[in-house]
Amino acid sequence: MIKSLLLLLLLPVFSRALTSPISYLPLEPTTINTNTKITIIPTFPLGSTVYTPGESVTLSIFEPRYRKMYDHILLNGSRRFIVPQTVVQNGKKLISEYAPVLYLEELKDVSSKTDDQVKYLCSHKCVGIAKIAGVKRLSQPGMDEWMESYAEVLEEEVIGVEDAVDLTSLRSHYKKLVDLQHETTSSVRFTKDSVSTLALSPGKDEGSLWSTCRLWSRFKEQYASNLEREIQEILQVKILEHLKNLGKENTASINFENLPEGLKKDVLEVEKRVREEVRNCVARSE
Ligand SMILES: *[C@@H]1O[C@H](CO)[C@@H](O)[C@H](O)[C@H]1NC(C)=O
Repeated sequence: MIKSLLLLLLLPVFSRALTSPISYLPLEPTTINTNTKITIIPTFPLGSTVYTPGESVTLSIFEPRYRKMYDHILLNGSRRFIVPQTVVQNGKKLISEYAPVLYLEELKDVSSKTDDQVKYLCSHKCVGIAKIAGVKRLSQPGMDEWMESYAEVLEEEVIGVEDAVDLTSLRSHYKKLVDLQHETTSSVRFTKDSVSTLALSPGKDEGSLWSTCRLWSRFKEQYASNLEREIQEILQVKILEHLKNLGKENTASINFENLPEGLKKDVLEVEKRVREEVRNCVARSE
């Protein structure tokens, strides 16, 4: 009970802290000036999931509109679609301006094995990134039409991203981080061996800078979840103590407003700390 109460208290903190400066476009059809670089590409918005070039991705497909989308990309031979992130900001639905491009490698019809719960089991490779210029067509759950966007698909060009990064300094910064993690009592840390094996090669295969991006993203997730647990433990002890003093140990939930001033201050302090730490974490990854 207390645990879910604390989660409720902390939820706004995390959602605010994680509002990162990714640029978004309105999720609505637009007319755009097409040029030779811009193509029409099937679009499968997948919430907050981000894939990076070289990554293998498996998806289970059951919705009619996406079954149709797979039929389309197979028949037409392109085998490609994009998976932008979607968010709601000020009540408006948005999609991220950049989206990973997935290439369908294998499709298995599993409808008979899954009682038609899942139609296709599909494996993909993320082959690049697309810059979305606008939405061509939206789709509705339950319907046959899939969403399409106007986008510039970057498969080879995008791999040159690492030219912009000073790789020598990246490894030395990473070494500094790992050393610090081992000097302090950091609960999530990289091994010292990983300094020499840190993947910084060009391209999109294993050992590329992109796999380091994935490593970093797993690190951040682990870090944020440890932080959350740590903070819950601290607050839990304080709130339980407060309830005990009131002789109400069995209370199932308590409103923030009903906490004594001192405890409110503690909660706000902790909120501030989480926001700053998570923001640092997010800002560094841009
Ligand atoms: C396949 O369809 C997409 C639109 O979904 C289109 O942009 C592309 O040119 C088509 N490719 C072929 C080979 O017909």
